[in-house]
Amino acid sequence: MPGAAEKGPIVVAIDGPAGSGKSTLASRLAAELGLPYVNTGLMYRALAHRALAQGVDHDDGPALERLLRKMTFEIDRSGRPPALLLDGTRPPDGYAASEVENSVSAVARHPEVRRAMVELQRGLGREGAVMEGRDIGTVVFPEAPVKIYLDAAPHERAERRARERKGSARVAEGMAERDSRDERVNPFVPAPNAVRIDTTTLGADAVLNEAVRIVRERLGGGT
Ligand code: DC
Repeated sequence: MPGAAEKGPIVVAIDGPAGSGKSTLASRLAAELGLPYVNTGLMYRALAHRALAQGVDHDDGPALERLLRKMTFEIDRSGRPPALLLDGTRPPDGYAASEVENSVSAVARHPEVRRAMVELQRGLGREGAVMEGRDIGTVVFPEAPVKIYLDAAPHERAERRARERKGSARVAEGMAERDSRDERVNPFVPAPNAVRIDTTTLGADAVLNEAVRIVRERLGGGT
C-alpha cells in the first residue's frame, strides 16, 4: 500500500493479549505501509532480561527505571520493515526464555518503568510507526489515527504460543498464568475507538487484509 508513509507521521496502534497474532500482523503491516515496526512487548522483555542478568530485583521500580534509562532503543532503518535495535543490535527473537516470561509482568507493573517506556515509545513513533503492545491506543498514542485491537479465543492463543515455542506442554499453563498476572498488576482495556478483529478462525493473510482495509478506511481513501 504505497503512499501511507507519505501522508506524514502515521501511527498505527495494535493492541491485544499474548497469542492474538499482534506480532505477525504488526510486522507485516509495517512492511506493507513502509513504516517502522515497534514491538513494545519486546522492550519490556528486554528490560526484564537485563534485570535478571544484572541481578536487579523485579520489585524495585526505581532501580528498574535507572536500568532502563541506560538502555538505548532506536530504529534500524536498513531493515524491512525498519525495526528496533537495542543498544545498537537486533534483539534476539522475543526474549522468549521462561525466566523472562516469568518476570516481565512484575517488571512492567511499576509506574516509573511505564512512564519511562511511554516516553521512549513516543520518541520511537515520532516519525510514524506500526506499534504493537497493550496500551498503545490508550496511553502511548491516544491520538493515533488507526487503532486495532486483536483478540482470539484462549485455546487458540495457547495453541499458537505452543507452536511458536515448539510445542512445550507447559506453554498453555504459562500463558494463562502470565495473562492472569498481567490482568492483576497491569490490566489493559481496548481504546474505545479501536477496531476489534477476532483472529480465532482467521489466517495471517486474512488478518492483514482486514487491517489494510481498516487503515484505508481510517486514513480516508487514496492510500
Ligand atoms: O506482548 P508480549 O507478550 O511480548 O509482552 C510482554 C509483556 O510485557 C507482557 O506480559 C505485558 C507487558 N507489556 C506491557 O505491559 N505493555 C506493553 N505495551 C507491552 C507489553
